[in-house]
Amino acid sequence: MDNYSKHEHDVLIIGAGGAGLRAAIEASAAGASVGLVSKSLLGKAHTVMAEGGMAAALSNVDERDSWKVHFADTMRGGQYLNNWRMAEIHAQEAPERVRELEAWGAVFDRTKEGKILQRNFGGHAYPRLAHVGDRTGLEMLRTLQDHGVHQGLDDYQECTITRLFKDGDRVTGAFGYDRESGHFRIFQAGAVIIATGGIGRAFKVTSNSWEGTGDGHSLGYEAGAELIDMEFIQFHPTGMVWPPSVRGLLVTEGVRGEGGALKNSEGQRFMYDDIPPLYENQTADTPEEGWRYVTGDREARRPAELLTRDHVARSIVREVKEGRGSPHGGVFLDIAWIKEKIPNAEEHIKRKLPAMYHQFMELAGIDITKEPMEVGPTTHYVMGGIRVDPESQMSTVQGLFAAGEAGAGLHGANRLGGNSLSDLLVFGKRAGEYAASFANEKGISDIDPEEIHRAEQEALDPLKRQNQSTSLNPYQLQFELQDLLQEKVGIIRKEDTLEEATKEIEGLAEKAKSVAVTGNRKFNPGWHTALDLKHLLTVAKACACSALTREESRGAHSRIDFPDKETGYWAKHTIGLRKGKDGDMEVVKTPIPEIPEKLQKIIGEQG
Ligand code: FUM
Repeated sequence: MDNYSKHEHDVLIIGAGGAGLRAAIEASAAGASVGLVSKSLLGKAHTVMAEGGMAAALSNVDERDSWKVHFADTMRGGQYLNNWRMAEIHAQEAPERVRELEAWGAVFDRTKEGKILQRNFGGHAYPRLAHVGDRTGLEMLRTLQDHGVHQGLDDYQECTITRLFKDGDRVTGAFGYDRESGHFRIFQAGAVIIATGGIGRAFKVTSNSWEGTGDGHSLGYEAGAELIDMEFIQFHPTGMVWPPSVRGLLVTEGVRGEGGALKNSEGQRFMYDDIPPLYENQTADTPEEGWRYVTGDREARRPAELLTRDHVARSIVREVKEGRGSPHGGVFLDIAWIKEKIPNAEEHIKRKLPAMYHQFMELAGIDITKEPMEVGPTTHYVMGGIRVDPESQMSTVQGLFAAGEAGAGLHGANRLGGNSLSDLLVFGKRAGEYAASFANEKGISDIDPEEIHRAEQEALDPLKRQNQSTSLNPYQLQFELQDLLQEKVGIIRKEDTLEEATKEIEGLAEKAKSVAVTGNRKFNPGWHTALDLKHLLTVAKACACSALTREESRGAHSRIDFPDKETGYWAKHTIGLRKGKDGDMEVVKTPIPEIPEKLQKIIGEQG
């Protein structure tokens, strides 16, 4: 065994985005010693890509809002595949978590009365997103970091975890390496929280940065945890499409929340062409009147651009396919038109959407206060992840917890925009609390030296193969995989191409066994890519396999061979995946627990 450092913590947290930081704060507050590992530098996480706000029923802008309406909206948005208990906890606890963040120093935009300002977002019945211009995720991270550094936690930046250790059914720690030096680290822990974010890098066009390679999903799966809902990938409707170097970069839904209109090449607001029958009482459907619906004793009027993301993304694909797209294969998003409606529109746009103004000015030479943007769908988020207990966030593996995008259940078949930041706060806190208590009760176990040896060999394998004549380049395989998922497991799916995808992914996994990298462990991005590949292949296989299994269209999963939402079997089952004894991916179909009557009543009243 090479030289390595050994660290002992009650709670080890893998991932330092919103969920990881919030968990770290809570576990430290409970008296646990905390190790916080981040693949990148602190402050760099996909959390910053939740730009437009965090959803919480504070009722500051519309006092009719309540946790009940938020709960019903989340369940409807997720097409009732959500874990109802997580949706209930989330809606009930989000307001407190947002106020707490404010008390820790987050500088939210304000109403005239000085309350936290809330904006409209897709699928939310009322203006519900507490925001800081279009930099809400960034402000959240800044605040959590400022608060967290005073808790005495140990952070390991630019450290990548490659394997979890187990003793019987229980997780005991993790193996990782420093990206800069290649130095190995062994973490021994009473409990481990996976908060690694998403899997966007498995696709070619994505809002995710290089870190989003599904590490936590794959680490959990390898350790025996079950993955659920992996067929549900959120393609955010608006990413940049031009210039090519920034294709996929997020254009916040906040643009539409501030009145941005989606138009095709004929200048039509095409979102009004196909409004799904979400409510019994839907009457008006023109851009002038807005889309009007009535639920219970409420009447609402919203722009059709604020329908849920799955629907908006599909509508954009339709326009492009039918020849009404923009010059670079997207559609137009026009915020400049609000000049017709409000005074000082230019100033308003720059104040409410400063990051978007600079992003388009600097990267595309477009002044969004005067010209429309070109946008198209981008892989943004995975609703699927590690199956967790709704109260504690513990997975099916003892001592292994998951929170944020890596933990699944809250969002069902489609996540509402803004529910991610509140998810990170609500379930990050819970994961920290329960992990600390688990570690306190069970203590820290030893790690088997054989397991350490295996993890080390596995990490070194690609370097050892560098002189073999049959060796393959990790970048080449990564690009092939991204192209494959984009093309065959994308927004619109069908059986034959999904079958091809699963076979081709298996082929790539086979080839990955021959991947080799030159050089040594120091500053070696090729080596990092080779090690990330294993995770990408696992999550790619999970997505393709679940998408092939679910024979219906629901939320973010659209099958042209099964275009309808099924009301029988698939409306009542979750697709799970776990590693079988022979190493194969086993599909587990689990009935969704019945929604209790009191919550069914709320859904009935609100929807
Ligand atoms: O569009 C956005 O600002 C993204 C928000 C989210 O994913 O929650």
